[in-house]
Amino acid sequence: MTIKEVCERYGISADTLRYYERTGVIPPVGRTGGGIRDYTEQDISWVENAICMRGAGLSVETLAEYVRLFQEGDGTVPARRALLAGARADLAAQLEKCRETLEKLDYKISRYDEAMKTGVLTWDAPEERSGNMEWITLNNGQKCPAVGIGTFMLTPAEAESSVREALRMGYRCVDTAAAYCNERAVGRGMRQSGVRREDVFLSTKLWPCDYENDRAVDETLERLGTDYVDLLYLHQPAGNWPAGYRLLERACREGRARSIGVSNFEGRYLAELETRWEIVPQFIQAEAHPYFPQDELRKTLDKYGVRLMAWYPLGHGDRALMEEPVFADLARKYGKTSAQVILRWHIQMGFAVIPGSRSVDHIRDNLNILDFSLTQEEMAAVASLNKGVRYYNRTDQQLAGFAGWRPQYETE
Ligand SMILES: NC(=O)c1ccc[n+]([C@@H]2O[C@H](COP(=O)([O-])OP(=O)(O)OC[C@H]3O[C@@H](n4cnc5c(N)ncnc54)[C@H](OP(=O)(O)O)[C@@H]3O)[C@@H](O)[C@H]2O)c1
Repeated sequence: MTIKEVCERYGISADTLRYYERTGVIPPVGRTGGGIRDYTEQDISWVENAICMRGAGLSVETLAEYVRLFQEGDGTVPARRALLAGARADLAAQLEKCRETLEKLDYKISRYDEAMKTGVLTWDAPEERSGNMEWITLNNGQKCPAVGIGTFMLTPAEAESSVREALRMGYRCVDTAAAYCNERAVGRGMRQSGVRREDVFLSTKLWPCDYENDRAVDETLERLGTDYVDLLYLHQPAGNWPAGYRLLERACREGRARSIGVSNFEGRYLAELETRWEIVPQFIQAEAHPYFPQDELRKTLDKYGVRLMAWYPLGHGDRALMEEPVFADLARKYGKTSAQVILRWHIQMGFAVIPGSRSVDHIRDNLNILDFSLTQEEMAAVASLNKGVRYYNRTDQQLAGFAGWRPQYETE
């Protein structure tokens, strides 16, 4: 039989047959007078043997060894048995590798199924963490650092420098908003810090003028210079906020926002959102501090495992709050400042906290709150400061104004 006929009969290429012969998987095939390979019945049985054994997963080396034993006359049962035992061990190792791979795939597939059902992609947070950071686990499994830096009222230059320095010091969470008009600067600060993008939890907010803008998320990502944010909020319950929430849910399903949230949605707005959401948010950002610990709001949040990210955590720098005697006493006891004691109280309340600052010293202090804890009695003493009073009381008229306002985003 010619090589062409053998190829046709067994569906393999002439190159494969030549390779098998060269490597000893099939013994040398006799040639005709013109030098053409001439396959006898015996050669063909070696070809069939090779096809079967390779198909079963035997390596070319093992097969060649098997053939050599025959060729050199040691085709004894013990020699073949030893060879096959080795081959079996090889095959078992290969199967084990396949099993491990399948298990990993199965894990991924089940996560994928879950995402298809819930519409929420969950992400494994990297194991490596910065220093002794404390982490909050969100209702989608994602993890958020308990302390971050806020950038409200910071100019682009200030935001760039505060974010860069904060990340270099060990912060891993940054909060900004389209309305702060410093997203580009925040992106620059993040890049200058040298901290890897995947190690930073970045949150930003859409402003109401963009709630009906299909490209709002793309434009936000473009300003920040990233292809996803860790948390995307609606900034205010103004304008067509239900459409805005659909944008958030879409961004979440597409992986462009790993978590979503609403900011300043308290009372009737949160109640209405509850009837509309397809994806339960991970965070609500709201004013919270010892004078106003959001007792009411927290009842709804606890129902859904939604976490509170506190804005004005230091009362926007209010001296009266920071000079409360209880903080001065605790500051003395723990060798901290009053601001640090207040921020520690936030963390122990389970809030994520994002103090804003232009001062490198304050930024450093605000992170340096992870090495002490307030006792239950001390937490109760702080609780007694609750006056149920906010610093910022938004009116319906202001809310209507928000819908008509368009921030002047930075162009460069
Ligand atoms: N969603 C919303 O509607 C909304 C509204 C407001 C704020 N936010 C977010 O929440 C973040 C925090 O709010 P915020 O920045 O307005 O108020 P804040 O964090 O309560 O207070 C910031 C003020 O406190 C001072 N400060 C910071 N650290 C200090 C320290 N260790 N000791 C003494 N003073 C200190 C700062 O001055 P220095 O610059 O001198 O440090 C600044 O004047 C914002 O940056 C923003 O990201 C969101």
